[in-house]
Formats: sequence, C-alpha cells, structure tokens
Amino acid sequence: MKFDTPATTNAIDQLKVIGRPTDRIDGPVKTTGSARYAYERHAEVPGAAYGYVIGAGIAKGRIASMDLRAAQAAPGVLAIVTARNAGKLAKGDFNTAKLLAGPEIDHYHQAVAVVVAQSFEQARAAAQLVRIEYTRAAGRFDLAAEMASAKPPKASAFSGEPDTRVGDFAGAFAAAPVQLDVTYSTPDESHAMMEPHASIAQWQGDRLTIWTANQMIAWGVGDVAKTLGIPKENVRLVSPFIGGGFGGKLFVRADALLAALGARAARRPVKVALTRPLMINNTTHRPATVQRIRIGAARDGRITAIAHEGWSGDLEGGQPETAVNQTRLLYAGANRLTATRLAVLDLPEGNAMRAPGEAPGLMALEVAMDEMAEKLALDPIAFRVLNDTQVDPEKPERPYSQRSLIECLRTGAERFGWNRRNASPGQQRDGRWLVGMGVAAAFRNNLLTKSAARVRLDNRGVVTVETDMTDIGTGSYTIIAQTAAETMGLPLDKVQVRLGDSAYPASAGSGGQWGANNSTSGVFAACMKLREAVAGKLGFAVADASFADGMVRAGERAVPLAEAAGAEGLSAEDGIEYGDLDKKYQQSTFGAHFVEVGVDAVTGEIRVRRMLAVCAAGRILNPKAARSQVIGAMTMGVGGALMEELAVDKRHGFFVNHDLAGYEVPVHADIPHQDVVFLDETDPISSPMKAKGVGELGMCGVAAAVANAVYNATGIRVRSYPITLDKLLDRLPPVA
Ligand code: MOS
Repeated sequence: MKFDTPATTNAIDQLKVIGRPTDRIDGPVKTTGSARYAYERHAEVPGAAYGYVIGAGIAKGRIASMDLRAAQAAPGVLAIVTARNAGKLAKGDFNTAKLLAGPEIDHYHQAVAVVVAQSFEQARAAAQLVRIEYTRAAGRFDLAAEMASAKPPKASAFSGEPDTRVGDFAGAFAAAPVQLDVTYSTPDESHAMMEPHASIAQWQGDRLTIWTANQMIAWGVGDVAKTLGIPKENVRLVSPFIGGGFGGKLFVRADALLAALGARAARRPVKVALTRPLMINNTTHRPATVQRIRIGAARDGRITAIAHEGWSGDLEGGQPETAVNQTRLLYAGANRLTATRLAVLDLPEGNAMRAPGEAPGLMALEVAMDEMAEKLALDPIAFRVLNDTQVDPEKPERPYSQRSLIECLRTGAERFGWNRRNASPGQQRDGRWLVGMGVAAAFRNNLLTKSAARVRLDNRGVVTVETDMTDIGTGSYTIIAQTAAETMGLPLDKVQVRLGDSAYPASAGSGGQWGANNSTSGVFAACMKLREAVAGKLGFAVADASFADGMVRAGERAVPLAEAAGAEGLSAEDGIEYGDLDKKYQQSTFGAHFVEVGVDAVTGEIRVRRMLAVCAAGRILNPKAARSQVIGAMTMGVGGALMEELAVDKRHGFFVNHDLAGYEVPVHADIPHQDVVFLDETDPISSPMKAKGVGELGMCGVAAAVANAVYNATGIRVRSYPITLDKLLDRLPPVA
C-alpha cells in the first residue's frame, strides 16, 4: 500500500478496538515467566554450550601476545575463538569498531576472545586463565580537551547537515537588545536496560540461526551476513521478547557474533550473555556533549537570532550526537545558525540512545529558553508561546502537518497549577524544603519507514499476524493485534501476533519512536489485502463489503469470516510504503513537561515531587500502553537530570562505574506522582493509522524541566548534568 496522500476515513477510524486502553496481550506470558527471552531458549536449542566473552584490558594499542594454553586445558573447555582463528570477518554496516578485535584494540573491553565450555562456570574460570600481553598506545579520552580538534561530521540521513545558516545570525545577535550566551554539558550515559545483550547461535550446515535480543531484525540479519561473509538467506534472527533496549539493541553486538563463531568452532549451539560491565564498555552508549546556545531577542520577547552549536566525540569513523537538530525547528526567529562538531575519542563506541539528539539537545535548549525568559521578565510559557511557529522556520513554505505545542503548554499549565509558581527563585519554602516548578517543551520528529506483514485467516475465524517487528516492552504485540482486529472486524481474542523473526516480512522495527505508527500501518495494509481476498472468494465487491462482529456482509448476504476462510484458510501479505508527504510537511510530535521539586535547604538533596506530561502525537493507538511508555520515559528523564553519568577514567580510557551499583538510575522511591495527558488528535498526514510515536517524546525535555524547577526552587543554575547535590551545596541560600 502506497501512502502518498493524506488519509481519509478508513476502518481504523471505527475505534472499536483501536484507541482503547487495552491490557497487554503478552501480559500473561510475561508475568508468569513463560515468555522466554534470548538466553532462555532451552527448548529450541537443547545442549547449548556457554561462551564467555573476554574484553580488552586496554583502551588503545595492540595485543602483543595471547597465551591460550592453560585455558584450553581447563575442564570443560570446547573451543576458544580469537581474531586469529575466527576466519575472515568484515565490519558490519552498523558498527564503528570491530566486534572481535585483534591485534589492534580500538576501545576498552572490545571483545578479544570467546571461551566456550560445557558450563558457564567452566567458561568463566577458563577465561581467567587466558594470558594477554598488550602494547599500550596513547588514547584520547577527554571531550573537553579534544573539542579544539573537532571537525564537521559527514552529512547523513540521520544526523543531517553539520552546518546550517539562515539569514545573518552574527549581525542579528549583536544587534539584539537582550542576549543570552550559555554553554551546557551532558555526560556519557548508558542504556542500562534490564536484560543483558544475549544470544544463542546454532549452525545447521551453512545455515545460522541466532535467538537474540535485537530491536531491528532486518538490519541485524544484514550485519551478521556481512560480518561472516555468508548470504543473508542463510541467516535467521529470532527475537520475540526483549527486556529493554533503548537503542542499545538496535545493532548486532559481540554476543551474537561470538555465539555464532563459538558455535562454529565448538560444533554445537552456543549461548552468550554479556556481563553488566561488558554491556557498559563493550557495547554502545549515549555520547557526552558540550552545547553552546546563543539567543537574541527584542525587548518584547520575540527571538531575532538563535544559534546552537554541539560538540561530541566518537571513535574514528563514528557519528556525532546530533544535539542541535531540534533547534532548527522548535522556535521562530529569522536569523539562525547550527553547527555540529565531532571529535575523535578512543572511548567505547557512541551511538543512539532513547531520543538520540533531542534528549541531550533539549537538556540545553529548554534551559536556555528558561534563562532567556527570565532575562526578558517573561513567564517561560508565555515566552515559548510568543515564539511558536507553524512552519519550518528554515523553509517557511513547508508547514507542520500538526503542531500543538501551545495547547500542550496551556493544558499543562492549567492542570499542574502553574499559576501557583513564584517567578522569583528561592522564595518558596515547605519546612526544610525549597520548592520550585519548572517547565520545558518536548519535541521529537515523526519518522516514516516502510513496514510489511503477513496475515492469515483460518477456519476458526482467527487471524494470525506475522511480521519481524519487535516488542521491546513497548506494547507492539497489543497495538498490532488491535490493528488487525479493527481492520478485520474481529474481537481482540481472535487475533494472534507473531513477532521478531526474520522468517516473517520485514518491518520498521523498534527505533526512533517510529515503531508503533509504521508497524501498525504495515499490518493495516496487509489486512486490507486480506479483506480483498475474503471478498474475492465470496464474490463480493470489496468496496461493498463490511467487516464487523466476525462477519463479512454485502447487500443481503452475511458470512462468518471462519466460513469464508474455508478449510485452506486465506492469507495476504503487504506493507506500507511512503511517498514524499514527509518532505512536503514537517512531521513532529510535541509535548510539555511540568515538574515540581523540593531541594533540602541544608543538604541540597533534590526530590522530584510531582510530574506532568502533556503529549500531542497524533492518534494514540492504546492509551494504556502509551501512558506506560511516557511514564517510563519521564522516569528516564529524571535519571538524566539527577543521576545518570558514566564516569570517564581519563588516564586509562574507560567508564568506571560499569555496574548498576555505580551507574545510578531512578528507583521507585525516587519517582513521585506522574500524570500523563494526551491531546485528542489524529494526523492524517502521518499514515493510515493517523498516529505518531510517544516513546521518545515522553523523555524529551524532562531533564530540562527538572533543571528549571531546581533553579526556581534555589536560584542556582547548574549547566552541567547530572544535577547532583554537590553542585548545589556551596551555593544554597543561607538558612535563617
Ligand atoms: Mo532508539 S535510540 O532509535 O531505540
């Protein structure tokens, strides 16, 4: 199905199943522990051996020698694979550094070997007996020190242009009566999902199956095939349940490759899970940024000049954190400038983490907007409303498909009681607590990508959907079932959903908050084709046929779907493909985050007291699942504001706090009452579902709202995240 003109009324608009706060259909298997994750596929792969990954002990240099003899002689050891005996390996399209290193080492804990043994304990014990001598080389580990050598990265579809200019920023900024010029920093962050990266690999002749935890099945198949130099047709990836990803499982990592290599060497299936320290230094992380923002405005508060420059680092050949991109779109202003600069760092590989770009970008921009509002003596909401735009500010002929930022801000202000906020900071006391409120805009683009599915109707009247779409805890199973049920006129319990297998048609996968809208659109397309097959078999014109209550009706005839299917059943396969509607219209999602904090007047301890998110993201396919996405995202935003930081050892080049004791994320006790409001809207330009995504929107701007609330509570502006109490302690107002 080609989607190239705005959607008209269709089966989804009935809203009998779609748009309802349905419980997860995968809830029972998850809560009873019968949903088996990658490491738990004992039934499919009995007798798997265990692989233990050895990570490099240096950040940069070479392996001088590797002595495997003691390890090979250890009890239970079946094979040890290193770059020397692995055979020829190519680098995948989605990795910057090799997944199996040697002799060159690109970063700390880059995998250098996998030890395969009968039991996990034997593999782990033998791994300790591998003796590796390294020759260390000097590395670059400090972003601040490397900023001067940072360069414009190559333009790409994901990262955009390294430099953008509209009008005359320098002139307009110099002439502006009110100016702000501030620099912020955000730290390296880890996805820190619950489930480790894990895979079981099995070879049958030259065909390879990997049960793994991966967000993007088709990308993964391509990269496994390319790395091993085998045809894609010979690779099957299976990933029906994933215990969190946040971008850390977008790409094939060392667990999958080393399970495959270990299985080939040991001639039996091999399972590999990365330990928590390896998850942090072996895989990817969100890169740290430094961001300079300049805003010039007229005295009435209208922005005349806005500039955002961002610096980040990555391994040679890596990618930038594109923190400036939302500043091209979010606010009006005739004179504009953005610049992205990338330094070479020899730290572990940087890559996408939930809302890459916007999450750290808004941590800076939305604090700058708060600072500028204060300079202008304007309410921060009024300042944002004044500078709203309904068109792409760089290309005024290009409108937004929908843009409800003002309504999000106003709805939120009303519900949160924003009028009770004291505009003068440090004035509100509640016992020992200094209390403050903060607001920030939320923004994240809506990305369109093709997505396909296969559907089958059987003689019980059950529709089975198959697509390689993944569910990373987001609710994909449920919204896909809702889509099929709505389109075919069936109750939810007459739909079965099978996901996460490369044997099924390729979907959009789970990334960039595009999963929900695109994958359900693909399922809708396949179901529309199934309707044609049903009508065709019964001799109905499909345009005259209606599908409801498990029946298909045309004129005087009504036939149960089960009967229409016949003994053989009926099946159809189709997908959604997009024209250029996303070029004609800017498609984005919007929101407003409100946060109230208390800051202990003596100790500087920060407690979040209340949170509210108002989101405008097209049709909300399942308000319960969407709310779960948003409250999870808000929680992650609090982590970004107050806790999360990978501490860089700048001498030896690794992340020191490589476990969940040292890498802090919010726990239940850190999170107060959270409210989520979805504006009631549909976007006919986004897809036949008229939906967008919320999984990343829900996090964008949260940290800035927390930072702004801390400022309102204390009068202290912290421009380097995370905002920990040591950054407040010396500056707290004197206690009377
Ligand atoms: Mo997302 S960072 O594209 O999983």
